[in-house]
This record gives sequence, structure tokens and C-alpha cells, in this order.
Amino acid sequence: MSALVARISVERASKRFSSGSVTVFEELDLAVRDREALCILGPSGCGKTTLLRSMHGLVPLDAGRIVIDGAEVRAPRRNVAMVFQHFGLMPWKRVRENVAYGLELAGLPKATVDERVERYIELVGLRGFERSYPNQLSGGMQQRAGLARALAVEPDILLMDEPFGSLDALTREILQDELLRIYQLAPRTMVFITHSIEEAIAMGDRILVLSARPARVRELLQVDIPRPRTVAGVIAHPRFIPLRDHCWRLLRERAA
Ligand SMILES: Nc1ncnc2c1ncn2[C@@H]1O[C@H](COP(=O)(O)OP(=O)(O)O)[C@@H](O)[C@H]1O
Ligand SMILES: [Mg+2]
Repeated sequence: MSALVARISVERASKRFSSGSVTVFEELDLAVRDREALCILGPSGCGKTTLLRSMHGLVPLDAGRIVIDGAEVRAPRRNVAMVFQHFGLMPWKRVRENVAYGLELAGLPKATVDERVERYIELVGLRGFERSYPNQLSGGMQQRAGLARALAVEPDILLMDEPFGSLDALTREILQDELLRIYQLAPRTMVFITHSIEEAIAMGDRILVLSARPARVRELLQVDIPRPRTVAGVIAHPRFIPLRDHCWRLLRERAA
């Protein structure tokens, strides 16, 4: 598939929560290209999580539609995996079982499950912790497990909802570098939600900046910083400060 083909298209999507008569987004349009990392940047409460959950088929829209690979999304799909801000691990299962869960659900043969679990635990740097329970791990390690769980199903599309948002600054940067490395090994279509401008620039090929609720597209920016990247390399790149300042201005401007 060519780099310019849309893998995900959001078409005039509207979502309202009747409980508080809150309009989260209205007539939102966006397209995610094959194997691009699209970062969605927007203020807290603007509807980023709701949008991502709609892409995953967990939240129905009131109007418009979301299309993945030519089919309208109505329920979670096999080739799409999600990484949650609060890790999304089952606390009563060990790391190994958490990573295996989606594979077993998909009915893969035991040998395949074992091989994938081992490979992805290794990839995220959790070897030696297979038998630990989530509450025995640091936040960073729990998110490594959350990442392994999502990657193990070998999804074409990865939806990430502020995956590093609850980590301390040092751990966050280490995991950003890890994700850049993993993305470099096998680029896949990725929608990465964040409220951090620096993170959006480091992770994204493009950045979609949303306004406060109801979320509207303020601007779509190209991040013209080459890969392979590291966070330190991105921050030192001459394009970093102009991009950061531009995003700041967009986020600060009050929606009319
Ligand atoms: N299940 C729900 N019921 C009612 N209101 C909700 C629900 N989920 C989110 N909201 C509201 O929708 C708005 C957007 O929420 P959310 O998508 O979580 O924003 P973000 O992820 O950008 O912080 C918020 O005002 C929130 O209170
Ligand atoms: Mg959110």
C-alpha cells in the first residue's frame, strides 16, 4: 500500500454525551496514512480519548463515520490494538499471561503464543519479569508490558492514548526512545494521543492540533525531522524550536 493511502479516515464525525449535553467533537475530518505516526495534540478534556475509542469501535458516533481499510468501524477489529494511559493490564494475571491474553483470545496455537510472548517481552526489555504481577512493577515497566501486549497481536494499526502520560519525565523519555526504536524496526500505522508538544514532535510524522471542546482541527503539521530519531536528537534538531513554538501558539489561541 502506498504511503499516501488513508488507513483510517474520520468523516464528519460527531459525538455528544447526552448525560451532560456535552458536544465532544462535531463534523471532524481526518485521515491517517498507511504506516505513518500521526500525533493528535489537544488540551485536556477536548475529546482525544473519545475520538481514539471511536476509532477502536468502543464508542459509537452520533453522526459521520470512521473507516478503516475501507470498512466502517462498528466494533474492535483484529488488526487494531490499543495502548492505554493507565496500562490496561489485568492485575490478577502475570506479565506473561497479560501479554498472551489477546493471542489466546484470537485462538492462535500454543507454540505461536509462546513464541510471540517471548519475542515481545524481549523487545520491550521485560525479560526476567514474565512471572511478575503488575503491582510488582514500576509504572514504566507496566507500560512496557502494556506495549508488549498490544504489539504481540502484530496489529497493522496501533492506537495509543497518552501511553506515557502518567510516567515520570525520565521514564517517559526512555520509553519514547524505546517506541521510536520499535517503530523503526517495523513501522506501522500509529495514532498517538498526547498533550505534550515535545512528545508529539518526537513521535509524529504529522501532528494534528485540536482546539478545546468541541474539538476542531486547528492545523495539521508535517514534522520535517528525519528518522531514525531519538528524543535527544529531535530536541537538538533546528526544526524543533520553530515547531514547538508554532504548536504552543495554536494551543494557546482561544477558539473563537
Ligand atoms: N462516558 C462519558 N459520559 C459523559 N461524558 C463523557 C464521557 N467520556 C468523556 N466525557 C466527556 O467528554 C469530554 C471529552 O473527554 P475525553 O475524550 O476523555 O477528553 P481528553 O482525552 O481529550 O482529555 C469531557 O468533557 C468528558 O467529561
Ligand atoms: Mg484522554
